[in-house]
Amino acid sequence: MKFFGICCGRKNGNTELLMAEALDGVKDRIPDAECSFVNLQDAEIKSCIGCETCMKHKLKGDMEFRCIHGMNEDHFYAIEQQMRAADGIIVSAPAYNLLPPGILIRFLNKMHASGDYRAITQGVDICKVGGCFSIGGTDWTDYMENVMRMITMELVGVYDGVADAVHFDFLPGFQLVLAAPEVLARVRRLGQNVAEAALKKKETGENPEYRGDWGVCPYCHSNMIRVFEDGHVSCPQCNVEGTVSVENGKLRVTFTEDAMQKSRWAPYGQKLHMENIGKGHKRTAENAGLIRDRFSDKYREKLKSWRAKLPELEK
Ligand SMILES: Cc1cc2nc3c(=O)[nH]c(=O)nc-3n(C[C@H](O)[C@H](O)[C@H](O)COP(=O)(O)O)c2cc1C
Repeated sequence: MKFFGICCGRKNGNTELLMAEALDGVKDRIPDAECSFVNLQDAEIKSCIGCETCMKHKLKGDMEFRCIHGMNEDHFYAIEQQMRAADGIIVSAPAYNLLPPGILIRFLNKMHASGDYRAITQGVDICKVGGCFSIGGTDWTDYMENVMRMITMELVGVYDGVADAVHFDFLPGFQLVLAAPEVLARVRRLGQNVAEAALKKKETGENPEYRGDWGVCPYCHSNMIRVFEDGHVSCPQCNVEGTVSVENGKLRVTFTEDAMQKSRWAPYGQKLHMENIGKGHKRTAENAGLIRDRFSDKYREKLKSWRAKLPELEK
């Protein structure tokens, strides 16, 4: 079986060292597992320019289309092929400004242009499961676990495929994790959990039981709640509505099974999302003439004159 890791921190730094530990954990359970990882800092990933060409092809049912950047213009497809081949994917990241580094998000943005990727990850034969871990130099990391689980879900296909997710604070210095045996041990266990999940999925077709950090949302395990002006709440990751109560001074949030079926990541939400994208494109097409005229009349020259002129860079 194959396991593939994604890093985006310093070369030989904390997250790379922890990735080695996680892959050792995989090998504890599956000694002949083929393990490798990529550090996105070594890769050239062209930024998605938001042209939506891939989405327009998808809406027409064309899953063969690949990004307008082409197959060999950056390293995206080489990495995507490794992910396609993997039974388990482990994603890692340090916190940069409370969030995973931009290069990981840049990679994620390109996933839209990878055709049927989500469909294959959801196929039982493909057996894709995953896990993630992240670290921060301090505790300025509140979004990390949630965003990391979401990225991992995007790469393995469904939240139910995320076997484990863990975050650690106060690990700022280069290679400091080597002096943190409890962190090394937990990440090794994450590797073991991902390996066990992959074996279970292969043997039974069943998704793993989630063994990661606590979350209030039973669907995505997010530990955040969005509060609306009228007092109702939802999981900001899933868009699932919940109700709140206070018991012994502690906030309780309850999500019903019915509400969870309406998660944006569940079939209901995915279908709605694609329909909404389709409606948006239809409206754009219907208004094409009007948009063209208004743009030419009012905005073309204005935007051109106000757009900052960046200096030529020395090669
Ligand atoms: C640009 C940048 C921004 C950072 N922002 C945060 C932050 O918001 N919160 C935090 O806890 N640590 C932050 N850090 C610290 C890193 O998460 C920390 O140094 C970590 O150990 C780096 O992992 P690595 O050794 O795998 O590169 C930041 C580091 C850099 C380089």
